[in-house]
Amino acid sequence: MIINKDQVLAERPTKTIFRDGTTVVKLFDKSFSKANVLNETLNQARVEETGLNIPKILEVMTIDGCWAFRAEYIPGKTLQQLMEENPEKIDEYFDLFVDLQIEMHSCTCPNLNKLRDKMHGKVEQTGLDATTRYELHTRLDSLPKRTSVLHGDFDPSNVIISDEGKPYILDWSHAVQGDPAADVARTYLMFWLAKREDLGEKYLKLYCKKTDTAMQHVQKWMPIIAASQSIKRKDEEKELLHSWINVVEYE
Ligand SMILES: Nc1ncnc2c1ncn2[C@@H]1O[C@H](COP(=O)(O)OP(=O)(O)O)[C@@H](O)[C@H]1O
Ligand SMILES: [Mg+2]
Repeated sequence: MIINKDQVLAERPTKTIFRDGTTVVKLFDKSFSKANVLNETLNQARVEETGLNIPKILEVMTIDGCWAFRAEYIPGKTLQQLMEENPEKIDEYFDLFVDLQIEMHSCTCPNLNKLRDKMHGKVEQTGLDATTRYELHTRLDSLPKRTSVLHGDFDPSNVIISDEGKPYILDWSHAVQGDPAADVARTYLMFWLAKREDLGEKYLKLYCKKTDTAMQHVQKWMPIIAASQSIKRKDEEKELLHSWINVVEYE
């Protein structure tokens, strides 16, 4: 299959997202297992049933032996693009970003996998020593269960504002159900990893204010969220993630 350059919406080391008429195709390379791709589409299909505004899955297929899926194309711009193009409107965009996350957290979707199960599994894959893993498992068990829809990668590049001004949430590969504060800790970490601590603080303050959440509660999730991210073994992230994980040792 030949993809024209002007169809490409995003090119990643292991994925290509391209437009095909009124649809988009997300094409994964051979490093993605069938189960991995089907999991992303199943998550997205399940979240469609909540009534949240998201692109609908239209088809799952293989292209030249690689797994792919097709979804509705949403004409518009991502919040990340809008933030870059109109920096003077950053407060307005953050307001929208946080309101959208709060709306998502108000939804439930009982068939989604559980954050707690996923995180216990991740902690075991970190390669951290047994004592640190024990601390992380104990911490995880002490945190509230809850059943909110969590995106797991709620970031301005995963929100599209359509040409009609309607926000859509994309990219459901990490979706689970659980405590909203874990999703907030993930978004906060994402700003830090992008070296935008300033935006991270702005975001966290706004979320906590709007939902009357204690920042300390979000902080309780941070060692677990950092441990889960550390599995990707990115050298440039190692120092920051370990400083977040090791909070456990001082308590
Ligand atoms: N349904 C869609 N409609 C319009 N643009 C999309 C759609 N899905 C993805 N995109 C564009 O492609 C980018 C990457 O898609 P995404 O699913 O977030 O992939 P990744 O997992 O690589 O982040 C998005 O940030 C957005 O710009
Ligand atoms: Mg994305």
